[in-house]
Amino acid sequence: MVITMSKTKRHGTQMPNARLAHKLINFQTKIALVCMTQANYIWLDGNFVKFEDAKVHVLTHSLQYGSGVFEGIRCYNTSKGPAIFRLHDHARRFFDSAKIYKLPLKITQKQFEEAIVELINKNKLSSAYIRPFGFYKDIGIGFNVKGKSSSVAIAAIEFGALFDDHGKGIRCKVSSWERINSTIIPAGAKISGNYINSILASLEANDAGYDEAILMSGTGTVAEGPGENLFIVNDNTLITPPKSANILLGITRDSVIKIAQRAGIDVKERDIRREELYTSDEIFFSGTAAEITPIVSVDSRDIGNGKIGPVTSMLKDKYARVARGEEKEFSSWLTFTKG
Ligand SMILES: Cc1ncc(COP(=O)(O)O)c(C=O)c1O
Repeated sequence: MVITMSKTKRHGTQMPNARLAHKLINFQTKIALVCMTQANYIWLDGNFVKFEDAKVHVLTHSLQYGSGVFEGIRCYNTSKGPAIFRLHDHARRFFDSAKIYKLPLKITQKQFEEAIVELINKNKLSSAYIRPFGFYKDIGIGFNVKGKSSSVAIAAIEFGALFDDHGKGIRCKVSSWERINSTIIPAGAKISGNYINSILASLEANDAGYDEAILMSGTGTVAEGPGENLFIVNDNTLITPPKSANILLGITRDSVIKIAQRAGIDVKERDIRREELYTSDEIFFSGTAAEITPIVSVDSRDIGNGKIGPVTSMLKDKYARVARGEEKEFSSWLTFTKG
């Protein structure tokens, strides 16, 4: 097997498999990953089932049509034990996504939040990436969802950095694929089908030798990454595209805005033109999986001096501290799993 390495590994496909050491091929980077994990449990409609038993039929509606809603949440190791970052906000978005698509969820938001806390404890995880998934479990042909029954599954797995950039930042390419927009499909909901747009953009960027894509909105301004929001820094002002650019309103984006404002940095939500990316002092992605990922080049143009800038560095460090409960003023964002 030929293994080619791009500069940066994206760890998005790393999933554990119960009790087995097994090989996974990360197609985006063509690096064979060997992953050894412990047995673990998945929460499925009120019960804990073994990782290997959480299965669906190939004709499951949400598998065929991408009609499931999902979330991505992180749990961090803190001095007071595991803490889930902004659980309530993620739960709210999960229920909002389901409401937008009229997907009936058979649990309440409170039960959902409790299930996540229990799952972390049951799996004895100190830190994790949590993936709730609400989906139509009925099988059959035909996309009509009327009368179909749904399930909620929640997985929690150990997960490191999304981009293994060796602390140097990533290189991006503006995609030829535009970001979906809300006249076609709700851009503000996390529904599986939306992510075909992200997959196309990432594939294109990776095939061209870049680490990740940046998508433009249908209105001709910068939108976001395939699974990340985008910030630029210009003259010490932090600028990020507004809701009208058809972005997903990221919870990390909101955290970054609040952390920056608290640190005395001026923050503006406004349209960003493509060429502004090239001439900005600094750029970074924000997201639950990506956390704060510095971008050091766009379309083969160095951003600033091509190195991670001071504002990005400061916010990256501060965000890591906030998420780990080391900044008291933001401790209300944490849900400790040990009570
Ligand atoms: C399209 C898209 N944009 C942005 C984000 C960042 O959102 P958050 O910070 O809530 O993870 C995500 C990840 O959920 C996403 O999928």
